[in-house]
Amino acid sequence: MTDSLTITDNRTGRAYEVPITQGTIRATDLRQIKTDEEDPGLMAYDPAFMNTASCISRITYIDGDRGILRYRGYPIEQLATRSNFLEVAYLLLNGELPTRAQQEAWVNEITHHTFVHENLKKFIDGFHYDAHPMGILLSAVGALSTFYPSARNLNDPEVVHLQIVRLIAKMPTLAAFAYRHSIGMPYVHPDNGLSYAGNFLNMLFRVSEAKYTPNPVLERALDVLFILHADHEQNCSTNAMRSVGSSRVDPLSATSAAIAALYGPLHGGANEAVVRMLGQIGSVANVPDFLKKVKNHEAKLMGFGHRIYKSFDPRASIIKKLADEVFEVTGRNPLLDIALELERIALEEDYFISRKLYPNVDFYSGLIYQALGFPSNMFPVLFAIPRTSGWLSQWKEMVVDPEQKIARPRQVYLGEGIRDYVPVEARGQQKELART
Ligand code: CMC
Repeated sequence: MTDSLTITDNRTGRAYEVPITQGTIRATDLRQIKTDEEDPGLMAYDPAFMNTASCISRITYIDGDRGILRYRGYPIEQLATRSNFLEVAYLLLNGELPTRAQQEAWVNEITHHTFVHENLKKFIDGFHYDAHPMGILLSAVGALSTFYPSARNLNDPEVVHLQIVRLIAKMPTLAAFAYRHSIGMPYVHPDNGLSYAGNFLNMLFRVSEAKYTPNPVLERALDVLFILHADHEQNCSTNAMRSVGSSRVDPLSATSAAIAALYGPLHGGANEAVVRMLGQIGSVANVPDFLKKVKNHEAKLMGFGHRIYKSFDPRASIIKKLADEVFEVTGRNPLLDIALELERIALEEDYFISRKLYPNVDFYSGLIYQALGFPSNMFPVLFAIPRTSGWLSQWKEMVVDPEQKIARPRQVYLGEGIRDYVPVEARGQQKELART
């Protein structure tokens, strides 16, 4: 067997042999396929990148048909039960689990970069009282780049490392400040004696106590949620990070772009949409009617379906178990019964089976976040914090990849052909046409 593809162009009768490497052909190899010398060559048309690999990566492996997710080869189930978020972030960024000394140094570094410049507080103060915390976060992270102009120097590994540390360390602080601003409470400074997740809970929820002590079950649950959300290969926001980063802008600005991508309801905004949807359904009795609407394409079952997972989302299985542990402490979320009933019926219905639609990571995560005391507009923010480690790992891989260049897709132009400019006084008829 030869690792190549023979293509016959029926327009010209010519045959071409294109090499196959790692199960792919190079789209640029199609450019040689032309009808004549004027022809720019064949392109692959792939809106939404349904079947296009944009990079070679060694970070995260997903087998969507078998429900497998691994970071650097380690199964997500093992990491979720045995590791912690900062160790996972190190693994994603560096390719290996840290030794004890490396781990201590890494945790120490992150812990000592959690504070933000006082002017950033003033910046956050400028937002309207009901500003969405995700909007505040993406703006604040963009603003961070103005505090660290040297971040633009991508050729110095120490500078690059410092930006990575800064982002991972400051993300919870900025997220917590965004939350406190939205509820009109004073900002709480980081407590460097607490864990990454524990300190985040402190900055969110501390009121007047001298020292905030997080509930260990809830602290661990948040840490596990951070592990599950840390990376997911070439998803929409990671693609944004790589694409924007390919212009060689600093990583702080690129991360702001990635947060914007994550903000959308089809991506990181989905868990917020799930809780809203469950609230609108209102009771278990209304589930069948709601599912009728979904099947008629009048509504979407948020938290279901995935571009890659077509049997189950392994993160959803872990989260469902985690929910039980959290609800033991916080009390049962009343929306859980509606979610369980939705899942039960949906998994039996042909509409969902035939389309391979299963609960994804967002179906239950929102219920846990709600039980932890977060308002729903904080849910995407809680996704952005850990995903920063994934974005940065992917960005770091991209900037040293000799095959990567500035991202610049092609297009198929189907607009007007050349035509002469029409002066405004002669355009009346055209305007009428445009409105009809
Ligand atoms: N509810 C009802 N129908 C659905 C759903 C859903 N959640 N998802 C897909 N479908 C239908 C869709 O209407 C289409 O049906 P038809 O063939 O009759 O037109 C078919 O399933 C295929 O869907 P698609 O839109 O082509 O699938 P996609 O791969 O483009 O979309 C998705 C993936 C995640 C955007 C989509 O499933 C969706 O919108 N889900 C709800 C939002 C959600 O939960 N997003 C979180 C994703 S996981 C976290 C993350 O990675 O950010």
